[in-house]
Amino acid sequence: MKIKSICCIGAGYVGGPTMAVIAQKCPDIKVTIVDLNESRIAAWNDSNLENLPIYEPGLADVITDARGRNLFFSTDVDKAIDEAQMIFISVNTPTKNYGVGKGMAADLKYIELCARQIARVSKHDKIVVEKSTLPVRTAEAIKNILDNTGNGVQFQILSNPEFLAEGTAVQDLHNPDRVLIGGENEEAISALFDIYSNWVPKEKILTTNVWSSELSKLTANAFLAQRVSSINSISELCEKTGADVSEVAKAIGMDARIGSKFLKASVGFGGSCFQKDILNLVYIAKSYGLHEVADYWEQVIIMNDHQKNRFSQNIIKTLYNTVSGKKIALLGWAFKKDTNDTRESAAINIAQNLISEQANIAVYDPKVSEKQIKLDLLDLDEKQMDLINVSQDPYEACSNSHAIAILTEWDEFNTYDWKKIYNNMLKPAFVFDGRNLLDKKQMIEIGFTYIAVGSSNL
Ligand code: NAD
Ligand code: UGA
Repeated sequence: MKIKSICCIGAGYVGGPTMAVIAQKCPDIKVTIVDLNESRIAAWNDSNLENLPIYEPGLADVITDARGRNLFFSTDVDKAIDEAQMIFISVNTPTKNYGVGKGMAADLKYIELCARQIARVSKHDKIVVEKSTLPVRTAEAIKNILDNTGNGVQFQILSNPEFLAEGTAVQDLHNPDRVLIGGENEEAISALFDIYSNWVPKEKILTTNVWSSELSKLTANAFLAQRVSSINSISELCEKTGADVSEVAKAIGMDARIGSKFLKASVGFGGSCFQKDILNLVYIAKSYGLHEVADYWEQVIIMNDHQKNRFSQNIIKTLYNTVSGKKIALLGWAFKKDTNDTRESAAINIAQNLISEQANIAVYDPKVSEKQIKLDLLDLDEKQMDLINVSQDPYEACSNSHAIAILTEWDEFNTYDWKKIYNNMLKPAFVFDGRNLLDKKQMIEIGFTYIAVGSSNL
């Protein structure tokens, strides 16, 4: 079967870039991305590419290539479903915040709504592709809904989890380490295989059974997050012993069996998926009675929470046990560089901790808007909100501050005139580098008291 028309439900961080690249690489396929969120769709259709809803290096070029040619963004979900031979489900699957599995299981209500809508609208046979990250055996539930509520048309379900990382999404999509397709039906698998093989080498397209594919996605994120928690746990030990975590990471990373990636100690991992997917894995393990497995993976989250809290506690302790009334500049709010995404960013937790100690917070991030920062802090009361100031200028954010905390590893932070920043701060001037980003020697020479994650001043 040759696919000529695709619909993707969900125009978010995954649906948008993933489908834009498919449209770019397959000019013969009409790709329509739909979403219920009207302002998001309007932003994807905005002629000014600065207004795209997602900041990703290289994305504007992909959109320029394909939009209006064979790539379309729309809020007309029914029409796009009806017209498509293949439908990707790319909606959000957040942690459930109510009922059974609250705080752990994935909330599949958006997935179920999509399945019911596809069943209601479809008049011709379709391939339905799970692009969202889902608990193992979700395909069974989707199939059940489609088969029992549809108009008698045939649906084939495939699992095709996405492995892109934000900030490098376009690069990851153009040149993936692998593409994973889980399914039973040979014809459906080969239809999706043919789409990817337009630009991905065939040996990198892996086919498995559906359940392996679903579980591989959760496992990949759990392993990646585990590496970050592992190095962060060692960072605390480094601070006590005089070892330097960057040196330890380099030394162990040169062992080909360990590998050098994902060994950067930090303020703690953030992002919409690591925590959510591990909690989901823990929940699934528990539901099968595998308590040791569940406890093993839960520890990755416990360590991450500890890392975020100990970073803010260290600021408070170092500033003579009180930050009340003191200005602290936070450089970076996004959960990593080169994205405007702030979901589960460590910065949120750190800001909340400092504000609960009555610090005055000045935030600067090159890509995150003031509106988003304030939305992230909605839990604060009105009085606490007054303690937050968002600045468009990093020098202004740092001016007259007692301390600066580097929370995101934006490249531009390394290009600042740190001498000028130092001169405009209260003394002693503290820098807490949560990303090991700046040049320690240079910062100390300027006069800063420089405190980096995972290295002591012993
Ligand atoms: P997102 O919140 O950015 O986007 C999801 C979109 O789906 C939203 O715009 C929402 O309005 C829309 N939506 C929800 N229900 C809908 C419905 N019934 N009809 C139409 N639109 C609907 O989420 P995301 O970051 O793109 O993540 C989507 C999925 O991909 C999740 O399962 C996530 O775990 C997975 N994933 C995310 C990433 C990432 O880097 N963000 C990477 C790999 C996998
Ligand atoms: C992650 C995975 O890398 C993707 O493969 C996956 O598709 C995606 O989750 C998902 O399922 O959503 P992402 O969260 O976008 O991608 O970004 P990462 O580069 O993995 O970083 C996650 C967090 O870990 C960030 O806060 C980052 O700063 C932190 N991190 C990462 C470290 O603290 N140290 C490291 O060495 C690496």
